[in-house]
Formats: sequence, structure tokens, C-alpha cells
Amino acid sequence: MKLNVTVNGEPKEFDIHPKDMLLDILREEGYTGVKRGCSTGDCGACACIVDGKAVNTCILFAAQVQGAAITTVEGIGNPKAPSPVQKEMTEAGGIQCGFCVPGIVVSATALIDENPEPTEDEIREALDGNLCRCTGYVKQIEAISRAVKETRKTRGTRAARIA
Ligand code: FES
Ligand code: FES
Repeated sequence: MKLNVTVNGEPKEFDIHPKDMLLDILREEGYTGVKRGCSTGDCGACACIVDGKAVNTCILFAAQVQGAAITTVEGIGNPKAPSPVQKEMTEAGGIQCGFCVPGIVVSATALIDENPEPTEDEIREALDGNLCRCTGYVKQIEAISRAVKETRKTRGTRAARIA
């Protein structure tokens, strides 16, 4: 069957089998920032934003996302133009091996998109499904809190420019 979606804003058409998982389709297409950790929906390494929500793509049939807008970590930012979450994860020391980081960036970005002023408890809750074996979570929570402040400043600057 054909699957038509947008990935990072680009229209895409895939030939899929009804049992294909979205994770496999994305990785085969070269979105290797979408990581395979557990394959059971427990670690968050494979998270992407699908129609505004962070979801684990290893337990989502590709056939379930017909017509959806998908954002992978590659669509959030890159080393030359990192998003505030990506920048602060690096600066606050929230990265060691880095394997969990795409999923954490995706979860934090989906949270901030939906709730631009999350409390620390809300950040912790949003990251509940993301496992990190290396750093512990203190630096990562700190990084996301800093990114919230950074995003607020950018919004303020943009609002002032528009006014
Ligand atoms: S690989 Fe999908 S949640 Fe772990
Ligand atoms: S930085 Fe290694 S798993 Fe999180």
C-alpha cells in the first residue's frame, strides 16, 4: 500500500506493508536520527512528532499515520542551526553517548510547542518515557528549562520587532 505523509515539511510517498512500523520506514528513508532502542515502546529513543504529539514510532504501524505531518529530530535543527533545546542540551552537559538525545529533543520540543511555559514538573512528566543510561536526568531537565527561557526571549524579541 501507499503511505502519503509529510516528513519535516516535505511531502513523501512510501510503499509499505500493512505490518511495517513507522520507525523502520523512517530509518530506511535515511532519517537515522530516529533511534532503535528497545522496540517495545519503553525507551523513547525512536520518538517523533506526529501531528503535534511525541510518539514512539517503534510501536506505531506506518499505516496508522496516513496523511500525517511527521517531524523527526532532523527537522528540529542541525549542528549548524540547532534549536534552543539542542543548543542547551549541549551547553548544559545533557549529552554523553548521545543515543537517547534525539528522543529527548523530540519530547521536549513537542512539549514546548504545546506549552511554551512548562514548569519543571511538566518537563519531568514529558520526559517520563525517555530513558537515558548515561547522564541521569538533572542536566537534561536543566537544559530544557534553559531552552524554555531562551525560547521565551526569542518570542519577546520577535514580538517587539513586529510591534
Ligand atoms: S525504540 Fe521505540 S520506545 Fe524504545
Ligand atoms: S546520553 Fe547516553 S543514553 Fe542518554
